[in-house]
Amino acid sequence: MSLLARQPAERHWLSLDPARPDDLPRIAALADFIWWRCYPPIIGSAQVHYMLGRGYALPALREAQQNGTRFSLLRVAGRSIGFSAWRHEPDTAFLDKLYLHPGFHGKGLGRWLIEASCRQMANEGVDRVRLRVNRYNHPAIRAYERAGFRVSGKDCQPIGGGFVMDDYLMNRTGLLGLLLD
Ligand SMILES: CC(C)(COP(=O)(O)OP(=O)(O)OC[C@H]1O[C@@H](n2cnc3c(N)ncnc32)[C@H](O)[C@@H]1OP(=O)(O)O)[C@@H](O)C(=O)NCCC(=O)NCCS
Repeated sequence: MSLLARQPAERHWLSLDPARPDDLPRIAALADFIWWRCYPPIIGSAQVHYMLGRGYALPALREAQQNGTRFSLLRVAGRSIGFSAWRHEPDTAFLDKLYLHPGFHGKGLGRWLIEASCRQMANEGVDRVRLRVNRYNHPAIRAYERAGFRVSGKDCQPIGGGFVMDDYLMNRTGLLGLLLD
């Protein structure tokens, strides 16, 4: 389902479209570009390399999609510039991935991508979403807070290779209210 119909007129060129299996190579390429641009100062190059291979290489994306993760591509005037991925959990949804090409940061498009992803969840009856975000990823934390997410805790989790994910846990409730807009 495209979300075009739900946008203000000035944003009609924006859409968040469910990804097909043949969109996954584009998603892998976007992830590679965005991670190498945004994450080395936060987690270092060795961990970027490790986490890209583990979670964003094509086989990992295919497996996640086959297991029910909903990938969607953010398109501006037909060009894909970002993506999100979420999955159902009991009584909630887990927003697993949310990425915007750095050339489009700081324009409100990240906020739009968060909102459109939450609307997809609401359309499937989900009222609460949770996510993990690196504790030093300040732009993303700000964007999530602006979108109504709140920090509920911290978790430092070993992920193999001698690395850890040092994250804030955030959640947002009341997604079903988006259906009333
Ligand atoms: C997280 C992410 C999607 C947020 O995107 P973004 O474009 O930076 O976020 P926003 O849409 O909220 O916009 C942010 C800035 O644009 C400004 N802005 C400019 N024009 C705007 C407009 N028309 N409408 C809204 N905000 C606007 C905001 O004031 C805000 O400024 P600030 O951060 O200095 O306060 C993006 O930073 C990203 O992809 N990062 C790399 C991947 C990542 O870390 N993902 C999260 C994994 S958990």
